[in-house]
Amino acid sequence: MRLALVLIVAACGAEAVPTDTQAVCPSPDPRTFGYTLADTPGCTGTPAQCNFGKTFMDTYCINCHSSALPRSQRNGAPLYHDFDTFLGVMQVANHIDQQTGFGPNARNAFMPDGQNGRCPSVAGGPLDVDCPEPTAEERTDLAVWLACERDRPHQF
Ligand code: HEC
Repeated sequence: MRLALVLIVAACGAEAVPTDTQAVCPSPDPRTFGYTLADTPGCTGTPAQCNFGKTFMDTYCINCHSSALPRSQRNGAPLYHDFDTFLGVMQVANHIDQQTGFGPNARNAFMPDGQNGRCPSVAGGPLDVDCPEPTAEERTDLAVWLACERDRPHQF
């Protein structure tokens, strides 16, 4: 599985190893993207943009990476990489960037990492569907959002 992934990624001209995208948040932070409207006060984007972080994680990640799932139901996703909360995302924001973000320095498409592209259709379920794949634009937005979010004040 790992070899096939590397070959596919190499064929696309992407980085073969997880690499910092070095995406930067525009200055001053335009607050276009948020985790949710409630978590990102002063968000200036559309509702979809202001709910971007949670929507992204819910769509692509939490069926394996959730604090509600014991090890046996995670399809191999490591413990303490739980993306069902904003805090969980921010605790490993740099890892998420390196696995999933597109930016000036790297195009990382390592996640979502099913087995042979298969993912669970429900949280903790068997690998019963083709993994939904973020678009290039979503991966780019993810990296910028994380870069902005790292510089914002939080009260976790
Ligand atoms: C099919 C289940 C599954 C899904 C869905 C999934 N992952 Fe993973 N994830 C894994 C597995 C298995 C590993 C450990 C093996 C590896 O690193 O390839 C992992 C590891 C990781 C790591 C840790 C890598 C490291 O070594 O530091 C990060 C970060 C991560 N995933 C992010 C994500 C993000 C972001 C998404 C959604 C876009 C996602 N994953 C979706 C299964 C999944």
